[in-house]
Amino acid sequence: MTKLNPVLKWASDLVQKVRPTSIETKQKLQGKVALLTGGASGIGYSIAKSFLKHGLSALTVADIHRSNGTEAIKDLTLQFGEEKVMFVECDVTNTNQLNSAFQETLRHYTRLDIVINNAGMMNDAFWEKEIHTNIGGCLIGSLLGLEYMSTTSKGDGGVIINVASIIGLMPCNGFPIHTMTQYGIVGLSRALGGHYKRTGVKVFGFCPGLTQSQLIETAHKNTLNRHFAKIFCREVEGCYLQHPDSVGNGLVKIIQTAKPGSIWFVENNGEPHEIHFPKLQDMIHEK
Ligand SMILES: NC(=O)c1ccc[n+]([C@@H]2O[C@H](COP(=O)([O-])OP(=O)(O)OC[C@H]3O[C@@H](n4cnc5c(N)ncnc54)[C@H](O)[C@@H]3O)[C@@H](O)[C@H]2O)c1
Repeated sequence: MTKLNPVLKWASDLVQKVRPTSIETKQKLQGKVALLTGGASGIGYSIAKSFLKHGLSALTVADIHRSNGTEAIKDLTLQFGEEKVMFVECDVTNTNQLNSAFQETLRHYTRLDIVINNAGMMNDAFWEKEIHTNIGGCLIGSLLGLEYMSTTSKGDGGVIINVASIIGLMPCNGFPIHTMTQYGIVGLSRALGGHYKRTGVKVFGFCPGLTQSQLIETAHKNTLNRHFAKIFCREVEGCYLQHPDSVGNGLVKIIQTAKPGSIWFVENNGEPHEIHFPKLQDMIHEK
């Protein structure tokens, strides 16, 4: 079923061979409230479904796309009941708008335990917007998450999950700017992970492999120019697009066990794996 091209094979060689322990997630998500950006479609919507299925008490979906967001909330309400989900229209690049989504969540549900920075785009032709959305949105979401959840400010601790990509672990030559943004999210998550003891907020990164969604299905039209498009098509030729539910379910499996600053990878509808980064001295090429 699954054919790994050489580049993806290289990425899977990075993956630590340790599988996450199986845990009873349901109890752990019970009573918790989450704010999820980009939850109106694709991977975000699957994360919403999976968290609610596994006992999450309430969820705010913050997304720029009003009609998809409204539709998503209608579906989630039908599946999980009234009063469990709320949509806030918001552009993650706008600090005031994202801050309002946090305040709205606290006003409505009275607590906040989990922030998932998932909103993103893959369009190197509009790279300023891509950088603002992917890096800016994730950074603003992380800083607000710390402000509202850190024990050093207004909170009681919590979890921040930053959704990056396989392209944050290995470069995609067809999408150099998207690659830059995903490496940025991985770096931010690793660095903020180092503050856990002080803040009580666990930050970690989650990197899906290629996953069915509007973003990936239209990506070939959104390269810098046609030369990059050709390269991208060669890079992904024969690759398997996993179902977004594998990403949502995978994230639920590791939310308790993931260590602060750790980076996780899920591809081909498989189990999530923690990424092992080599020590600096092992990265140096000796002549
Ligand atoms: N699909 C893949 O192959 C893949 C692989 C790895 C990582 N990812 C990452 O997963 C995340 C979700 O992507 P997806 O594949 O589900 O794509 P998608 O296009 O289906 O979903 C992205 C969501 O983000 C929202 N969004 C975009 N810009 C926004 C903004 N400025 N403010 C608020 N919301 C905004 C969109 O409206 C949409 O609902 C992205 O960060 C993407 O980089 C995707």
